[in-house]
Amino acid sequence: MIKYLGSKRLLIPGIEAVMNSLPFKGSVIDLFSGTSRVGLSMKQLGWKVILNDWNQYARVISTAHVVCDEDRSKEVHELINLLESAPSVDGWFTETYCRKSRYFTPENGIRIEGIREFIETLDLDDELKCVAICSVMEAADRVDSTVGVQMAYLKQWSKRSLQTLKLRPPSLVKQSEFGKASAHCMEAQEAASKLVADVAYLDPPYNQHKYIGNYHVWQTLVQWDQPEVYGIACKRVECREKRSDFNSKPGIQGAMNRLIENLQCEVKIISFSNEGYLPRTDMESLLLDHGKLQVLSRAHDRYVGAKIGIHAPSGKKVGQVSHLKNTEFLYVLGEVDLSSGICEEAGWKMESPLQTG
Ligand SMILES: C[S@@+](CC[C@H](N)C(=O)[O-])C[C@H]1O[C@@H](n2cnc3c(N)ncnc32)[C@H](O)[C@@H]1O
Repeated sequence: MIKYLGSKRLLIPGIEAVMNSLPFKGSVIDLFSGTSRVGLSMKQLGWKVILNDWNQYARVISTAHVVCDEDRSKEVHELINLLESAPSVDGWFTETYCRKSRYFTPENGIRIEGIREFIETLDLDDELKCVAICSVMEAADRVDSTVGVQMAYLKQWSKRSLQTLKLRPPSLVKQSEFGKASAHCMEAQEAASKLVADVAYLDPPYNQHKYIGNYHVWQTLVQWDQPEVYGIACKRVECREKRSDFNSKPGIQGAMNRLIENLQCEVKIISFSNEGYLPRTDMESLLLDHGKLQVLSRAHDRYVGAKIGIHAPSGKKVGQVSHLKNTEFLYVLGEVDLSSGICEEAGWKMESPLQTG
C-alpha cells in the first residue's frame, strides 16, 4: 500500500482488539479510509466493510483492496500481466512530474504514463479499473523520490527511484458473509447521514495539512486529466480550494460533534492523536454527551520528517526536533466490554476518562 501520513498500520492490532471485544459481528463503516488498511483488516476479520473518503484516489484504493473479492484473483493476475506489456508514453504526465518537478525518473514516468493511458483503452468494469489504476499508483509509490508526501521532491534522485517500476496485484480477501463491501467518495457529514452500519471507525485528519496537497499526483493519476498546476511542486489548482472542517482548529469540534450525532451506528471508534487540534479533554467532553466512553492509548513513532530533522536550504542540520513519539488514542463510544485484557495484550493501555460527564 502507498506511504500515507496518518496511516494506521501500527494501530490495527488495537482496533482489531476492540472489534473482537464486541458480542456481535456485522457491518462497519471506515469513514476516512485513506489507504484502506483498516477496512482491509476488518474484512479479514469477517466484517462487511463500507469505506468512504472524499479524495478520489482513496476510493480507487479501497475498491481495489477491499471491494474486489478473492474470487476475481485470476482475472486480476491476468490484467496485471497485460498492463506490464503496455507501450511507454512520453507526454504531459512525464513532462510535469518527472521534468518540471521530479517525483519519478523520466524512465519510470514514461512507463507510468504508458500503462495509465493503456488502461483508458480497455473495457474494464469499475472494480477492475480500480485494481489497474491502484497497481500503477502503488508501483509508482515504490519508486518515488520524496520523503513520503508530494509537497516537495528530493534534490537528488532517491535510491528507490532508480529501481524499475513493477506492478503487483493486490491480495484479495473473500467476501464477508454479511455482504459485499462498498467504497464511496463523499464528504464525511454526507456519508454519515447516508451510510448505515453496526460500527463506525473514524480517523479524521488531525491538523492543518490537507491530504489532497500531499497526494495530488495520485489524484491526477486517478482522474487522468491534465490539470492546471502551480508552484515548484506542480500541485493541482484545486489543492488551494478544497478545505475540510477537520483541517481547521476552530472547525473540528463542531464537525466532530455533528458527525457523531448523525452517524447511525451502535458503536463508534475514534482514532486521534495528542498532537491533534482537539485536546483530549475537549474530545472526551464532546463524546461523553453521546454515551458510554472508554479510552485506550499507545505511544507511537512520529512521521519520518521528524526523524530526518530540520535542515537549512544548504542541507546543513540547523534545528532540533522536539520529540520523536506521540500518543495515539482510541476512543470507544457505546456499550462495549473492554475488560477482558485483549486490548492490553495488543499493546494498548486503558485510560481513566479525564471528564466525568
Ligand atoms: C488520517 S487519514 C486516514 C488514514 C487511514 N485510516 C489509513 O490507515 O490509511 C484521514 C483521511 O480523511 C480524508 N478526509 C479529510 N477530510 C475529509 C472530509 N471532510 N470528508 C471525508 N474524508 C476526509 C483524507 O483524504 C484522508 O484520507
